[in-house]
Amino acid sequence: MKKRAKKPSESAVEMREMVMPSHTNPQNTIFGGTVMSWIDIAAAMAAARHCGRPVVTAHVDDMDFMAPIKVGYHVLIQASLNYVGTTSMIVGVKVTSENPYTGEIRTTTKAYLTFVALDDLGKPVEVPELLPETEDEKRRFENAKKRVELKKEVRRTLKKR
Ligand SMILES: CC(C)(COP(=O)(O)OP(=O)(O)OC[C@H]1O[C@@H](n2cnc3c(N)ncnc32)[C@H](O)[C@@H]1OP(=O)(O)O)[C@@H](O)C(=O)NCCC(=O)NCCS
Repeated sequence: MKKRAKKPSESAVEMREMVMPSHTNPQNTIFGGTVMSWIDIAAAMAAARHCGRPVVTAHVDDMDFMAPIKVGYHVLIQASLNYVGTTSMIVGVKVTSENPYTGEIRTTTKAYLTFVALDDLGKPVEVPELLPETEDEKRRFENAKKRVELKKEVRRTLKKR
């Protein structure tokens, strides 16, 4: 039986972290791999909440690092469903840093990840439809749809799968 369609707000995830010395690179700012791991976790939680199934990361798209984050700063990771296919889900993630002493907030990273829902045998399984409601959600849905189509075109051109 097909599952009930869901709004992006029903599965959205917010995670907060504080940058510790163990999270940093030799420049004493956050290590990109740490941010990528937080992004993957937040996005996977949103995808699993949407489909109610185990999910795997299939693809990471457009991961931009726009500003470094210093030790002691707070990091907010926000993930929400942008688009769904038949068994795949695209999750948009925005990372912002907060200087807790001044309150200054900066957008530092943005990324789009594709997850696939798995059945009990580990095979791709159908996911619920997505019902974008707000103007932002509708814009993200349309942009993600275009990104999927462009990606298919690139794969065809490059003869990838
Ligand atoms: C993701 C995975 C389950 C897809 O399995 P598959 O047998 O190739 O499945 P299909 O070809 O039927 O594709 C299933 C869906 O995933 C999408 N998909 C598969 N690979 C993709 C990729 N690289 N990028 C974007 N979407 C992808 C397909 O477009 C399809 O979407 P749709 O059902 O919404 O139309 C499989 O490749 C896998 O297990 N990968 C390893 C995942 C993993 O271990 N991740 C952890 C990080 S290493």
